[in-house]
Amino acid sequence: MNIIPRPLKVEQRQGKLDLSAVSDIEIDADLDGCSALIDSVFTRGEGGASLRVVRDASCSDEGYRIEITPDGVKIFASTQRGAVWAVQTLRVAGMLDVEDAHHTVECGVIEDAPEYGWRGLLIDEARHFFGVQAIKRIIELMSLHKLNVLHWHLTDDSGWRIEIKKYPLLTEIGAKRSQSQINGWWGVDGDGIPHSGYYTQEQIREVVAFAAERGVSILPEIDMPAHFAAAFAAYPWLACRDIKRDVPWYFGGEVPIREGVKDWNRSACIGNPDTMRFICDVLDEISELFPFPYFHIGGDEVPTEEWKKCPKCKELMKREGLKDVDEMHAWFNNKVQEYLLGKGKRLIGWNEVLKGDNLDRSVIAQYWVPKLDRNVVKHIKLGGEVLMSKHQYFYFDHDYAVNPMRRTYEFEPYISGVKPKHRASILGIEGAVWTEWIPDMYKLEFMLFPRMAAQSEAGWSSGKRDWKEFLKRVKAFEPILDAFGVNYAEEEIYAGKPNLFRKLRIQRNFFYGDQNIELKYNAAIKQRKGKN
Ligand code: ACM
Ligand code: ZN
Repeated sequence: MNIIPRPLKVEQRQGKLDLSAVSDIEIDADLDGCSALIDSVFTRGEGGASLRVVRDASCSDEGYRIEITPDGVKIFASTQRGAVWAVQTLRVAGMLDVEDAHHTVECGVIEDAPEYGWRGLLIDEARHFFGVQAIKRIIELMSLHKLNVLHWHLTDDSGWRIEIKKYPLLTEIGAKRSQSQINGWWGVDGDGIPHSGYYTQEQIREVVAFAAERGVSILPEIDMPAHFAAAFAAYPWLACRDIKRDVPWYFGGEVPIREGVKDWNRSACIGNPDTMRFICDVLDEISELFPFPYFHIGGDEVPTEEWKKCPKCKELMKREGLKDVDEMHAWFNNKVQEYLLGKGKRLIGWNEVLKGDNLDRSVIAQYWVPKLDRNVVKHIKLGGEVLMSKHQYFYFDHDYAVNPMRRTYEFEPYISGVKPKHRASILGIEGAVWTEWIPDMYKLEFMLFPRMAAQSEAGWSSGKRDWKEFLKRVKAFEPILDAFGVNYAEEEIYAGKPNLFRKLRIQRNFFYGDQNIELKYNAAIKQRKGKN
């Protein structure tokens, strides 16, 4: 059977079942959470075949068993999520989204369970805002790939994308910028088009409910104390120095230097009790919207120069006996962690949160930097947990020629200081799509598909990787992506021999020039093949 991600065990028997002949559906009350998905996937036929969803406590948390006979299908699971993944397996194996496909599956038994409990995907909507329909589409496709956490990067320097009722200027001012930088990190041009958008709390609730029906939890990220420029544009008093600035239209590089704004990525003034109050208020409102017992507070790339000079921050250091700015950052993380724990949530931060020795080790670190970070190793030794998002494997905003899909597929978690004996400390893996250079879904889908399949299998399937065999299944999956109208990368791009010249050209252009070389190349291949 052509299934992505590859199931743990498939035992084939004689015969086939036509899934479009399913007419008689019964779901155990405990697992009724999968009924919305079943309704959307199965069109009840006239064939008399049955579909049963049965609770079986012996199945693991996300695991399931499917028994297929010529008369019908039985799904066994202990949780809604396990049942949802079983439905997705049938959906993929029977190509149910593809109108003119066979819709049959071979009889037999499929037993399945994931290698990692956390299989996430970060979507950055601060740099570019996509909106409800787009994010639902991503969630639908994540669920099809058995990814279970949408890591929603909702705030950054370039935009604040979630309504906070107590601080309306966060979206009135912070969700809008005059234009967007183009031509790469060191490009100096803007596109001249104002960019804005945010989710109302009502929309957030709608998206959270939609995701829950598909087995996807949503992890909100409010990046702090740095990457906070959109919040400063709304409320300049949150920073150590009260400077009135617009939401930056540039993402970094040359422009701020030219404009004389060298310190555009600044940190909130954590020595100011009003700023700490603001942060708690924001956490209060957001925590209400997301039932997931985790909260991401970013914590990456934190500049500390202002803290060193700020009277309030200096006073905090003295009062708390903090020996340096790293300890000050850890103090902040501990405070926020304590507050979140009071709401039944654990704090997650990028690996930069690990610098101070006074850190509470119950925080979870997301390991993104490409190089070895000794603080991650130390964190694990002290009992801390990590999520793996190493840049060179999982940063999907980089072209295929730079971060090849094969590398993602063959991801080996025991790198950069993480060893096999640390297995229990690895919660799972996450892909990331940062959107500085991704203004629309057409490009986002190109960067993300079929890489999502590679990440899916890296996170779900245990055992040896077989790239050639995987490629056959990726190819067989294409009609499903076509049915969704996804603009995925062609084989020549995701599995082609790396061409050094093109790779260098793409790399150079990522910093200065045209970010869409590979995208355009893909479009030309599609056209040649007669795809639109
Ligand atoms: C990051 O890429 N700064 C987390
Ligand atoms: Zn300060």
